[in-house]
Amino acid sequence: MRVDVLTLFPEMFVPVIGASMLKIAAEKGLLTVSISNIRDFAYSKHRVVDDTPFGGGAGMVMKPEPLVIAVENALSEGGPIEPTQRRVILMTPAGKVFSQAKAVELANLRHLVLICGHYEGIDQRVVDLVVDEELSIGDYVLTGGELPAMVVIDSVARLLPGVLGSELSAGDETFAGDGWLEYPHYTRPREFRGRLVPEVLLSGDHARIARWRRGQSIKRTLARRPDLITANLSLDDKKCLCTVMSEDGKED
Ligand SMILES: C[S@@+](CC[C@H](N)C(=O)[O-])C[C@H]1O[C@@H](n2cnc3c(N)ncnc32)[C@H](O)[C@@H]1O
Repeated sequence: MRVDVLTLFPEMFVPVIGASMLKIAAEKGLLTVSISNIRDFAYSKHRVVDDTPFGGGAGMVMKPEPLVIAVENALSEGGPIEPTQRRVILMTPAGKVFSQAKAVELANLRHLVLICGHYEGIDQRVVDLVVDEELSIGDYVLTGGELPAMVVIDSVARLLPGVLGSELSAGDETFAGDGWLEYPHYTRPREFRGRLVPEVLLSGDHARIARWRRGQSIKRTLARRPDLITANLSLDDKKCLCTVMSEDGKED
């Protein structure tokens, strides 16, 4: 996959794309992230990228010409790709909220162009002319679209086949499968500051462990994100939940 990022602050991306999974994905040739400075596409004398809003009001608005040219340049750099295989995305708090399902959808494409806004935002004509989709990373306002773009890149990159060590890692986690929250994890030591690893995890009984994990996952989701439980629990799921609830009751 190729990802083009259009930003006024390219330096913000250097440490992020050069570390951890994104670095590995690039080294394996699975991901190419190209960062472009929007200012390089401002052909006015002083490379101006923003201006005051028509109609008045506080703040500045990013001008359309540099952004549209930057997007067109990124699309041509991406090469001849079916339009259905690429997506131009504007990061904006006014967009649809990004989700794991959206990350999965984007991971199936070949080319993403991410536009990072600043100031009050960008001229609407950029959206009308070249943007396919507007995405928000949550109901809060940041100063720029750089952190949101990094969130999208990271979540999409780890879904690309071959990026994570085991394909199972991305399949067996929060929001995957049933879309519920993941069960709690434990590692060595067996006892830490008086707290023991649940006995079931040491039992070697894989079926019991699977039922415990499922029960914990349902319990957590019901407590923290009941909105994620969209269908009735199966009889098996109810049994898993009852088991963990009664075991937790014994510990209290
Ligand atoms: C200060 S914000 C602009 C907010 C805009 N005036 C509004 O009220 O919707 C500047 C830029 O940060 C980015 N941004 C801020 N919060 C974001 C969020 N929650 N998700 C995605 N992008 C965000 C967008 O690119 C936006 O253009």
